[in-house]
Amino acid sequence: MPTESALKFVGAPTWEALSGHPVHTGVWDDVNQVPHVSLGRWADLVVVAPATANLLARAAVGLADDLLTNTLLTATCPVLLAPAMHTEMWLHPATQANVATLRSRGIEVIEPAVGRLTGADSGPGRLPEPEDLFARVLAVLAAGPLAGRRVIVSAGGTREPLDPVRYLGNRSSGRQGYAIAEVAADMGADVTVVSAHVGIPVPHGVDVVEAGTAADMLDAMHTASADADVVIMTAAVADFRPDAVRESKIKKVDGADPEPITLVRNPDILVELVGRRRPGQVIVGFAAETAPDEGALLELARDKVARKGCDLLVANDVGGERVFGRDTTRALILDGSGTVLADVAGTKVDLARRLLEAVADRLDDR
Ligand code: CTP
Repeated sequence: MPTESALKFVGAPTWEALSGHPVHTGVWDDVNQVPHVSLGRWADLVVVAPATANLLARAAVGLADDLLTNTLLTATCPVLLAPAMHTEMWLHPATQANVATLRSRGIEVIEPAVGRLTGADSGPGRLPEPEDLFARVLAVLAAGPLAGRRVIVSAGGTREPLDPVRYLGNRSSGRQGYAIAEVAADMGADVTVVSAHVGIPVPHGVDVVEAGTAADMLDAMHTASADADVVIMTAAVADFRPDAVRESKIKKVDGADPEPITLVRNPDILVELVGRRRPGQVIVGFAAETAPDEGALLELARDKVARKGCDLLVANDVGGERVFGRDTTRALILDGSGTVLADVAGTKVDLARRLLEAVADRLDDR
């Protein structure tokens, strides 16, 4: 519903073509459908983005001088305003008083972002990024098959220190874990990622706890999963760590053999979490395998799901540069009895979606 001012920036045909929906602009169009009342009644949520200083003022005093302000007066659903204006206008006492009035009526006025504004200046007043607005919309609507659910996802590869400069690590990029976290948030979940070493930005609307080693991850996962509905162990946790972390750098000595490194077992976090599973909690494991063929992959996966006792297992063939650091993947999703629920070839987001649908089905059954 662009205002007259909005149409100076982007015309109605562009809004219609990009959204694939009709665009309403005037109180006097399609009067037989009473648009100034019907749109507000029909909506599940009204979002005004960007909300100018002028719009905030008109909404605060209850003016009804165009279709948008009429709709704000007739809407009974949640209303979200995302202000965007120059810093001086945002900080002006008149605007701040309007914001306080609107908030006191239960309207959510999002804090503007800080950054570059329309001119060369920068400061508070910038429209938040679309991803942030979208995350807020989903949270307000509490929509999606995972609405109200708490989801914990571990991601990335742990590093086990050897001395102050060296560690034993692995090639996990964290992409699959972050894709799952992002899709779970889009499906309405309250998501925390327990992140080992990951080189990509954290998805919007997701909380992060850092955990660099297997021991850190065990602690963080115990804490985070205590009240979780879903736990997904995507992280590549080192199975072994050096028996001791040397206090100073291991030096080479001319003519002498290098000192051997003794490894000790790390705890299996997934198995520990399964052992402490709270009633109704769904626990998902991942299996990174190098298998000669599909049959062998399935056999390894069935063996792993039985050993680990998780509700679902995603089995990847990670050999031949097919998975690590890439955006695409190929994986089987198995249930706890070893039955294949899906065979997914596509992006890591595609796999995340299919997996979370299987998770949501399981939650609904409980
Ligand atoms: N995992 C874990 N703690 C470990 C090792 C693995 O929680 N110390 C989890 C992984 O996050 C994953 C699942 O267990 O969800 C399987 O990991 P994977 O490395 O494929 O299996 P391993 O347990 O290492 O088994 P194997 O050595 O037989 O491959």
